[in-house]
Amino acid sequence: MKIKSAEFVMSNSEVAKCPKNNLPEYAFIGRSNVGKSSLINMLMQRKSLAKTSGRPGKTQLINHFLINGNWFLVDLPGYGYARVSKKAKKTFQKFITNYFEKREQLVLAFVLIDCRHEPQPIDLEFMQYLDEQQIPFHIAFTKADKLKPNALQRNIEAYEQKLLETWEEMPLYFVTSSSHDTGRDEMLAYINTINEQ
Ligand code: GTP
Ligand code: MG
Repeated sequence: MKIKSAEFVMSNSEVAKCPKNNLPEYAFIGRSNVGKSSLINMLMQRKSLAKTSGRPGKTQLINHFLINGNWFLVDLPGYGYARVSKKAKKTFQKFITNYFEKREQLVLAFVLIDCRHEPQPIDLEFMQYLDEQQIPFHIAFTKADKLKPNALQRNIEAYEQKLLETWEEMPLYFVTSSSHDTGRDEMLAYINTINEQ
């Protein structure tokens, strides 16, 4: 898919205030610092469309980006970031779950997983939650540039083993690196296929 335009539309914390039109949207979710905002920038080939930071907790609202005038990418705050206050965490979590439970335009979520880490309970729980809510999701392994190919392969296989304890098959996944544009063509082609259905 060719990206002709990518524009920031709005940030907010309330689903009721999200864009009213009926365009399909794809949400990026995962732990803080996993690379959600960076992946959006990489897919759009725009350095700072979504704000990124080396410090976890950068994205704090629901951010809508309108792509090619007819679909949205949604950048969300991360979950599981220990350094924000308990109260702030609760507020975040509430509007994240509100978003997933109420946003009718949501087509599917990409759950981002740092490929360097072993399966973490918080990510597995979040995938389980999406499943319970009947929200389709796929996985995007991030920061693939940080591992040698063998180690990457090993980690993905370990992840697969873990997920097969809960699901009958491995969810569709993409291997990405925002610094090397890895996975860009695959993810955009996939979104294009869904948009055309
Ligand atoms: P929050 O908004 O805090 O939840 O974080 P986020 O998931 O949006 O992460 P963000 O995109 O801000 O990236 C976090 C850090 O990881 C930044 O320092 C990025 O430069 C770095 N990063 C993101 N993706 C990659 C990648 O593919 N490779 C490498 N090497 N670094 C990455
Ligand atoms: Mg972010």
